[in-house]
This record gives sequence, C-alpha cells and structure tokens, in this order.
Amino acid sequence: MNYQEFARTIGLIKEQDEWRDRCLNLIASENVQSKKVRAVAGSDFVHRYAEGHPGERYYKGTRYIDDIESNVKRDLKKLFNCKHTEVRPISGTNSNEAIFSKFVNAGDVVMANSTPGGGHISHHRMGALGKFTKNIIDIPLSEDGYHVDLDKAKFLIQSTKPAVIVLGKSLFLFPEPVKEISDICSEEGTRVIYDAAHVLGLIAGKRFQDPLSEGALLITASTHKTYFGPQRGVIISNMDDALWRKVDRGAFPGSSSNHHLGTLAQMALCTCEFVKFGEAYADQIIRNAKALGVALDKQGFTVEAKAFGFTESHQVAVNVKAHGGGSHVSNLLEENDIILNMNMLPHEPLKNHDNPEGLRIGTPEMTRFGMKEPEMERIAALMKECVIDGKTVKDEVNKFRADYQVVKYSFDEEDASLSSDP
Ligand SMILES: Cc1ncc(COP(=O)(O)O)c(C=O)c1O
Repeated sequence: MNYQEFARTIGLIKEQDEWRDRCLNLIASENVQSKKVRAVAGSDFVHRYAEGHPGERYYKGTRYIDDIESNVKRDLKKLFNCKHTEVRPISGTNSNEAIFSKFVNAGDVVMANSTPGGGHISHHRMGALGKFTKNIIDIPLSEDGYHVDLDKAKFLIQSTKPAVIVLGKSLFLFPEPVKEISDICSEEGTRVIYDAAHVLGLIAGKRFQDPLSEGALLITASTHKTYFGPQRGVIISNMDDALWRKVDRGAFPGSSSNHHLGTLAQMALCTCEFVKFGEAYADQIIRNAKALGVALDKQGFTVEAKAFGFTESHQVAVNVKAHGGGSHVSNLLEENDIILNMNMLPHEPLKNHDNPEGLRIGTPEMTRFGMKEPEMERIAALMKECVIDGKTVKDEVNKFRADYQVVKYSFDEEDASLSSDP
C-alpha cells in the first residue's frame, strides 16, 4: 500500500512536469530554472546543514558550501552594486520577517501597500508584519491606482511618523517613487524598505529602478520571479556595518535555522547565468509585457493603466468583470492550458477577494522560453478566442507551446552548440 502511494505520487509529479510543458505559463510570480540548474536539485547539499557564515559554521562538513556561499554573495554584490548581501532566508516572506523582526517594534506605525493596491500578505496584519505591529496604514494611491499620491503620502508620513515604510508590491506595474519617499522619510527618521520580490531580476538586469541608489535602506526579495533562481529569499543593502548586524541576526537565528543548501547551490549557478544574460533577459521581459498589454487592448480586453502605456514591468493587469470576473476567467483559461491568476485591482473593495475583477499576467516564464513580441500577440489572440469568443483553444495552445521548450538566457544552449548531434 505504501509503495502504491509512492508510485502514485511519482506519477503525479510526472504529470505535472508534462502538463506544465504544454501550457502557456503566465503567472507573474513564477519562472523556470535552466536544465543545468534544475539538474543539481538532487545534490548531496539537500541533506546538509551549515548554520552560521562561511568559515564560521556551527556544523562540520561545510567546506564546499562555504566556497559556494561566499561566491554567490560576491557575485550578488557586483550585480546589485551593494555592500551587504544576506542569502540565508529561504523565501521572500522569510526575508521580510528577518527585517520586520529587527526594525519594527510593537505598536510602531508601518506604512505599506494595501492588498487591493497590490501589497503582499507579508506586509499585512495577518502576515509576517502583523506579528510585530498591528498599526499598519496604507500607502495612499493616486486616482489611477498604480502610482503613489505623494502629497497625501507626505502628509501621512509627517503626521503619523512611521518607523518603516514598505515600498514594492505584488501587483507591480510601475516603479515606486523611492527617491521622493526617501526624501520625505529622512526628515522623519522613517526607514525605507523596498520589497523587490517581483522585480529583483528587472533591477539586476538594469531595466527598472535602482532602489538603493534612490534612497532605500534595504531591499528584500524572492529569487524566483523575474530573477530566475530557485525558490529562496535575499536581502541587500548599503547600510553601515553596525546596523547590518541586526539584519544578520534577523536572518539567523531570527527567521531561519538551516538555510537549505541544495537551493543555495542552485542560486549560485543561476546567479552566474544572470550575470551573463540578465540584462538581455530583463529587457525582453519588459518588451513582452508592453507588447502583451497593447495586443490585449487591441483584442478588446480592458487593460489597466492604458494612459500610462499599460506597464513598465513584467506584468499586465486586465479587468475582466465584463467577462464574468477573475475567478471565472482564470478557470476558463486554465481549462485551455493558459495559466495565470485572478487578482484584485486597486479600486476594488476587500470583499471581492474570492472573485476579483482582475487578472494579473506575467511574462517572465514565457520570455525565458524564448518568446518575443510576435508570440505575445499570439497569446493575446488565443485569450480573446477563449474568453471573448467562447472557443476551445487548448489544442492550439499545446501546439504553439511545443515550439518553446528550450530554456534561453542560460548555459544550456552553450552545450547544444558544442554537441556533435546534427
Ligand atoms: C511583494 C511580495 N513580497 C513577498 C513575497 C513573498 O515571497 P515568497 O513567496 O518567496 O515568500 C511575494 C510573493 O509573491 C510578493 O509578491
């Protein structure tokens, strides 16, 4: 019986692999690793512990991870032009918790993006931030819902004196006004934290904003959305060494013990890829998102932020209320092997949570499989046929996707070119 269950689970894993290879994956928070990075997921490191820092471990047997961890920190410092990197958090939420645990005290006011405004659950009363204070106020947004209302923000910061402001979000179409907010905050002693979970790869690829040089004290992030690594977290900063010791303690023992050496080794590999291919990759991700926005608009969808060119990031937001709402439409698309998620839009009340009006569509994964602007037009046309015309497009989706199976912006291709196969 146990073996049957084992075999059944192996079967489910295989089905998942095969299914997602046939799908158009448009979840904005997901990406794929190259074949080579994926291949080391079964290394001996997945069994090991290495608490502490390279050369100062609480465990024995760490000589190789010491080298790998030192090297990835060195490479990340170059990539982000920063003084400090913390690579031990095992997720973006874990990175946020490490920071909140050291910079937010009970009762402190913290300002963050609301859920409809695009904020993440870890910035919420019910998430990581809520463990340290319940006094969380929303960053005020302008009428369009996708930009900060700076006058209102200034008034709120001056009148409530937050300990921390968390910029960055999950529905993230345009850069945050880091410089303007940092200038206001420096007068009030408010620390500016930038959550780059979604846009880390765009920042590393130098196609978005540079939050540290614009005034943010530190950046927290996931490593697997626009940055094409394994599922982990990272913290980077140029803060002074004394303050950085707090971050260090927040990461270990504050928010993690074992820091999952298997994925850390993968992080080191994908960072080598990012150093080489990251700028071209980030460039194409954004081109694709813009092209998708334009194409969906032409196909008759209500694409958000049209007045601002739809997007400057890897995401496009679409209002599908007229087509039955985000839940219905995302289910319909999934039946046709187009995978994306429903999302609240900034004007919506919280009660819409289970069937919001919006869809959030992301281009990182399909870009990594080599799709460009013409393929975005094809995706928009398939979505129109499915959602607006009510047609079944699954076979067409599967046929289309079959031509995009090789992970680009990776060293996988270097091997292909060296191969003697015709
Ligand atoms: C803005 C933001 N912060 C943090 C996270 C959490 O990242 P993780 O899933 O790596 O914990 C997310 C996840 O989507 C996010 O969108």
